[in-house]
Amino acid sequence: MPHDTLPQPAVARRSAGLSGSIRIPGDKSISHRSLLFGGLAAGETRITGLLEGEDVLNTGRAMQALGAAIRKDGDQWIVSGTGNGALLAPEGPLDFGNAGTGSRLTMGLAGSYDFETTIIGDASLSKRPMGRILDPLRRMGTQVRAADGDRLPVILHGPRAASPLTYRVPMASAQVKSAVLLAGLNAPGMTTVIEPVVTRDHTERMLVGFGAALSVETDTAGMRIIRLQGQGKLTGQAIDVPGDPSSAAFPMVAALIVPGSDITISNTLMNPTRTGLILTLQEMGADIEILGPRVTGGEDVADLRVRSSALRGVTVPAERAPSMIDEYPVLAVAAAFAEGTTIMQGLEELRVKESDRLSAVAEGLKLNGADCIEGKDTLTVRGRPDGKGLGNAKGHEVRTHLDHRIAMSFLIMGLASEHAVSVDDSTMIATSFPEFFAMMARLGATIEAKD
Ligand code: S3P
Repeated sequence: MPHDTLPQPAVARRSAGLSGSIRIPGDKSISHRSLLFGGLAAGETRITGLLEGEDVLNTGRAMQALGAAIRKDGDQWIVSGTGNGALLAPEGPLDFGNAGTGSRLTMGLAGSYDFETTIIGDASLSKRPMGRILDPLRRMGTQVRAADGDRLPVILHGPRAASPLTYRVPMASAQVKSAVLLAGLNAPGMTTVIEPVVTRDHTERMLVGFGAALSVETDTAGMRIIRLQGQGKLTGQAIDVPGDPSSAAFPMVAALIVPGSDITISNTLMNPTRTGLILTLQEMGADIEILGPRVTGGEDVADLRVRSSALRGVTVPAERAPSMIDEYPVLAVAAAFAEGTTIMQGLEELRVKESDRLSAVAEGLKLNGADCIEGKDTLTVRGRPDGKGLGNAKGHEVRTHLDHRIAMSFLIMGLASEHAVSVDDSTMIATSFPEFFAMMARLGATIEAKD
């Protein structure tokens, strides 16, 4: 597990134009859900393109502990599920490592069962707020024991029969929406989730694919109302996981800021709840060509050709945040190379990610000579298109706080900065993008482990 290993500092240096073609590994959100829903559904689920990052593997182990059988056969993962309503009591604590999605969705899935489930995680996950999941579970009848401030470790014991709930999600969070829906799968009657701001919709799409009686209605104000009939039958599916746009973001920004670059990223998920970064970069003047748009397994997918571009600062409105919530750290790096000022608004949720990403990004940018201002829920970055003065000539390392995306973002910054950029740890990159180093090297990027 990465959090048990020693930190591995890494350094990125100014690189010549990147070139070549890569296929980004599977989407993390869809990979988690493939194992969770496959582990619950009756019969066999066959998954290709699963992201084999630590976070997803932890979800697989948890589903095995809850009664699913999971094996790998060639490049396919084969999951034999328990059937809806038939999860087994786990014998020991479920350890999710660094993974917010795995832990929170599993709390929803198992928390409505009349047995005890203990959820633990690493130092980063143990600092993150779980009350947002525990509150609706309490209302469904689950008994909850948790560390101070509703943090991990969390021990859940569901009631004999969970009460279906009507729940308005109080923050923009696909994890909260999903956890309530998953708890609703085991409750008699209708669970209704009201979502004032649209967040990634993989849970809704995939549950319908597995046979759940789920409907989505959007009212005139843009509010989404999701209704799920509990205790229905779920049946195993074949799932082809598209490439993760949140991972594609790193080579994409790298190609934009390193002069002379021209790369192609194939098979990227283009679900409109996930494409906010592409839209923002295009507004900044990025040359991103969307090639061969198609539908794979019910999701929009395309190949992206990205060429280095002269970027301009823009204002990124708050309402776009849910569609690019994991991409702000690397957008901030792109902004550091843009002409003018970029203002990012509505970032309150960044404070409760794998780290407080708003302050981690601001601190890292300042350490590497970029001009930025951290607000309560905003980030303002003034760019240096030629990278002059950026990086840290003394080799001082960005503090990553066990956050994979902070580590990758600053390594990308180093590829176009005058001086090298170092990070204090790169082991966490394996949680979401184990192929990061090999893929970036293949494109011609100079990123190395530091002694
Ligand atoms: C995710 C939802 C988002 C995102 C996370 C994955 C998901 O979290 O940041 O990486 O798969 O549902 P929030 O629900 O906390 O916004």
